[in-house]
Amino acid sequence: MPKRLRVLSGHRPTGLLHLGHLVGALSNWIRMQEEFDCFFTVVDWHALTSDYADPRRIREYVVETVADWIASGLDPEKCTIFVQSDVKEHAEMHLLLSMITPLPWLERVPTYKEQKQQLIDRDLNTYGFLGYPVLQAADIVLYRADFVPVGEDQLPHIELTREIVRRFNALYGPVLVEPAARTTPIPRLPGSDGRKMSKSYGNAVNLSDEPDVMMSKIAKYMTDPARQRRNDPGNPLVCPAFALHQAFTQESRLAEIDSGCRSASLGCVDCKSDLAGRLRDRFEAFREKRRELLTKPEALNDILEDGARRARQVAAGTLQAARDAVGIGHAR
Ligand code: TRP
Repeated sequence: MPKRLRVLSGHRPTGLLHLGHLVGALSNWIRMQEEFDCFFTVVDWHALTSDYADPRRIREYVVETVADWIASGLDPEKCTIFVQSDVKEHAEMHLLLSMITPLPWLERVPTYKEQKQQLIDRDLNTYGFLGYPVLQAADIVLYRADFVPVGEDQLPHIELTREIVRRFNALYGPVLVEPAARTTPIPRLPGSDGRKMSKSYGNAVNLSDEPDVMMSKIAKYMTDPARQRRNDPGNPLVCPAFALHQAFTQESRLAEIDSGCRSASLGCVDCKSDLAGRLRDRFEAFREKRRELLTKPEALNDILEDGARRARQVAAGTLQAARDAVGIGHAR
């Protein structure tokens, strides 16, 4: 049997997962686990790079994230799910890569510049924050990942990883594998105010929202501003609520909603209550599964222990090869 291609991706435990995460990343991971040898990691050290002054919730979000993943369909039998800091090889690989990464490569990373300007409530003038793309590179190279499924904002990080790999291999020999990014074709999901769905904008519908919360968030969703009165015709393509229909409503019904909006035979209130009902049903089994997981912390713990063990096996091999190539530690 030919070797299955390897996939690695990560998510930082800084909040609850929302519909944007599901549509943009998680649904892709769920498909990939059938075809590839997948590693999915909750990157708690990454969370610490920005939340070091208030790390209390990181552990809680680690558990919630894993519960969200598994309840959505990631299957620990089919893929390896682990917590980054449980696999200490990430820290050592980060250290080795940090030796060869030129500072200007890090200073020009767009997310670094943006976040430092935007997250003004905290001091991000730290060594750890500047170096977090190197930590991400370590996450990826340890597993010799062929593909890294990420959102477009992460492309510069994958490019940086490739540059670091080339530099490492040029200096010490061909040990590390250059990964390729895989972006999802699905466009970003808008939040209730029409901007990109994001925890920090307060416009997100969380996977774990109870039905009544979900319903009231949908009821407040922005629609095409041209539909001021019930009989004003609309354009679904500029309507944030319609974007959710596109992600969660089957084709035949979607066509009816599209034409109902354009002809004004369907009003925004009815359109959104159709959507809310759909989401309530769609996430019923999810909520059940998630509740069940969270009432059995030992079972979740076993999954993470087992994931860390499997991850460590691969990571330790790559790390040893890297140590030998650099020539560090006593000779074995
Ligand atoms: N930096 C990514 C983000 O902020 C998370 C991440 C960490 C990641 N390590 C990774 C993504 C490795 C892909 C591969 O979203």
